[in-house]
Amino acid sequence: MDMQLAGKTALVTGASKGMGLEIVRVLREEGVAVAAASRAVTAELAETGVITLTGDLSDSEAPARIVAEAVTALGGLDILVNNVGGGAAAPGAGFLDFDDAAWSSTFDLNLYAAVRTTRAALPELLTSRGSVVTISSDSARRPQSAPLPYGAAKAALNAVMKGLSAEYGPQGVRINTITPSSTLTALWTGEQSFGAGLATAMNISNEELLATLPAQMGMITGRFIEPREIATAVAYLASPLADSVHGANWIIDAGVSETV
Ligand SMILES: NC(=O)c1ccc[n+]([C@@H]2O[C@H](COP(=O)([O-])OP(=O)(O)OC[C@H]3O[C@@H](n4cnc5c(N)ncnc54)[C@H](OP(=O)(O)O)[C@@H]3O)[C@@H](O)[C@H]2O)c1
Repeated sequence: MDMQLAGKTALVTGASKGMGLEIVRVLREEGVAVAAASRAVTAELAETGVITLTGDLSDSEAPARIVAEAVTALGGLDILVNNVGGGAAAPGAGFLDFDDAAWSSTFDLNLYAAVRTTRAALPELLTSRGSVVTISSDSARRPQSAPLPYGAAKAALNAVMKGLSAEYGPQGVRINTITPSSTLTALWTGEQSFGAGLATAMNISNEELLATLPAQMGMITGRFIEPREIATAVAYLASPLADSVHGANWIIDAGVSETV
């Protein structure tokens, strides 16, 4: 299917690996000129040949600078993908384990980075009648399943994107969100990752965790979601084919969510 994205321009945040890298690849395949932002440029990202921009997006000044650099390098902006997010909390950490600094850093990365990036990009997106796709998490709907500040930040992110859609949709900017559940990225597979920490806490190997967790969580497929499944949905939501999709929050969770 032709997504009708050829010739468009996009900024993807958190793009050096995981879902962000796959989103970059899929948009490139669709003929989109992409600027990719992260703190470091991995070999895999460099291989895509896209424009790379570096900075810590949890720093309050970085999003506006990165948006300005992207707009200059691309000659405009049609698509913003707010993908950056995550956190360093240990699995099993409880409410009393999070001090103000932990709450702040989690909100900086998972909420304010998207708020600041979207705010900086909106003037260009209004001109191009563009589109925003934001990556949230099923932890927003199941806050008990992850460190509490992370789920709370993602829940706030959902609210911001819904409100923005109502405000800017009538002015031609489509704003939508994707809610993934457990997706096979470095968050789960890396040596110092959340997944590795969870495996240690459960006294099992990381391989065992990766093999058993999806079914334990109630994922009907019995496997982790592949980053490409998320990236394909991003491309569709950014495409003119999704012209009537405004303010949606698409759940891609292999059936984990039990609510209607
Ligand atoms: N994987 C899952 O199971 C899952 C489930 C639900 C939702 N999500 C959400 O999906 C999104 C992508 O997650 P992922 O699993 O693909 O993560 P990942 O594999 O850990 O990749 C995170 C990306 O963000 C970049 N990044 C991290 N901190 C940054 C910062 N402060 N400034 C700029 N860039 C930064 C990283 O590059 P550098 O380290 O080079 O900066 C990397 O490119 C996140 O919003 C996450 O919350 C993930």
